[in-house]
Formats: sequence, structure tokens, C-alpha cells
Amino acid sequence: MKDIIIALDGHSACGKSTLAKALARELKYVYIDSGAMYRAVTFYAMEEGLITEGEAIDRNLIIEHLSNINISFNYNSRTGKSETYLNGNNVEEIIRTIEVSRNVSEVSKIKEVREKLVEFQQRLGKNKAIVMDGRDIGTAVFPNAKLKLWITANNEIRVARRYKELLEKGYKVSLKDVEENVAQRDFEDSNRKESPLVKAEDAIVLDNSYLSKDKTLRKALEFAYEAMKK
Ligand code: CDP
Repeated sequence: MKDIIIALDGHSACGKSTLAKALARELKYVYIDSGAMYRAVTFYAMEEGLITEGEAIDRNLIIEHLSNINISFNYNSRTGKSETYLNGNNVEEIIRTIEVSRNVSEVSKIKEVREKLVEFQQRLGKNKAIVMDGRDIGTAVFPNAKLKLWITANNEIRVARRYKELLEKGYKVSLKDVEENVAQRDFEDSNRKESPLVKAEDAIVLDNSYLSKDKTLRKALEFAYEAMKK
């Protein structure tokens, strides 16, 4: 069986990362969360005052700062998970807040931000044996990936899952906040100029609205083993 690149794309909170992590674990592949990179850049910009609540994002300043932003992933042997680092600091949790979620789609529209992160993502995929999830993985980052999955689930289910996830992490958010954020990001991600969120023509649709995590994984694994033979 050949090592392949597995690209997962889809709207916010559709279960991409849950499936991508499980797939990587099962196949002994590396999992890369490309959304974490956009979130880390956004968090940096918020910390540096390049984005202030309710004000427009300073695109030019963010572009100027890009060379100061170093993102990496390090394996945590205690949790058994790979975690996101920004300039040497672990930001795995802090980049998942609703405040970061509110700004991330705007930052993700910036061409220079995308160029930097896509270049990094492509470098990470050089040796294949990788599962990467995001919005443009099968279209822009790895257009030749052997397996592309378009993950989807209905709106209510996506919102309910994200709400539960944030509450479990101890964040104080309302269902309405989450609903608004998911809708806003879906719209912005799908309608931006640079690499908008669209299903790659050759992606396989996997709707997990009514599938358990395990069933979803089994289905994806079938597709993966099939793709490895080609
Ligand atoms: O977890 P969730 O699906 O809500 O989002 P994420 O994967 O953490 O991505 C956060 C945001 O980063 C998205 O809403 C996009 O604006 C952006 N993103 C992107 O533009 N391209 C990617 N490949 C991944 C994420």
C-alpha cells in the first residue's frame, strides 16, 4: 500500500478534525490541522493589537508582521496529541475561543497570510502519509491528493456539536453566539476571493449528520484503503 495524502474539507464544525484525527491514528499518519494555523495568526494579531473589538482589521500591519509569526506543532506525550505553538508558546486551547473564531475568517481572506500558510502546509505534506483538514486542502494545497473527502453535516447538528464542545471546555457562550459564528464563517469562507471553500470536483461526500464517529471512521477508512491501491 502506498502512502497517500488525505485531504478533508468542509464547513465549520462539520466533524472534519474529529475524523481527521481518528484517520491519522488508525493509519499511523501525521494529522495536520490547517485551521489551527489561521487561528494562530488571528490570535497573534489580536494579542498585538492589530485587531480590536468592533474595529476593522489592519491588513497591512498583519502582512508586515507575518515574518515574526512562527507556527509549529509539537507532540505532547502526556495527552498523546499534537499541539499548536505560536512563537514557542503553546496556544492549542486559546486559539479555539469564540473571540478568535469571530476574527479568523477575516484574517483568512488575506492573500499573503494564505500564501505563507499554504507553503508551510505543502512542506509538511512532502513525505505524504498525512491527513490534513481545512477549507482549501483538496483544491489549493494538495490538488493532487489521492483521497479528498468533503465532510458535511446539517446546520443544526453542526451548531449543537460546537456549542457542546465549547461548554465542555468551560467557555461561557450562548447557543445564539455559536449559531451566528458558524453562519458568519460559512458565508465568509465560501464567498472570499482567495481559495474559497468549495468542494473539489473529485472529492467524495461524507455526510455524518446521522453517523456515529466510529461509522464515519469506518467509511473513510474504506475510501483510504481503496485510494492507497491506486
Ligand atoms: O473547527 P472549525 O471547522 O470551526 O474551523 P477551523 O478548521 O479551526 O478553521 C478556522 C477558520 O480558518 C475557518 O473558518 C477559515 O476561515 C480558516 N481556514 C481557512 O481559510 N483555510 C483552511 N485551510 C483552514 C481554515
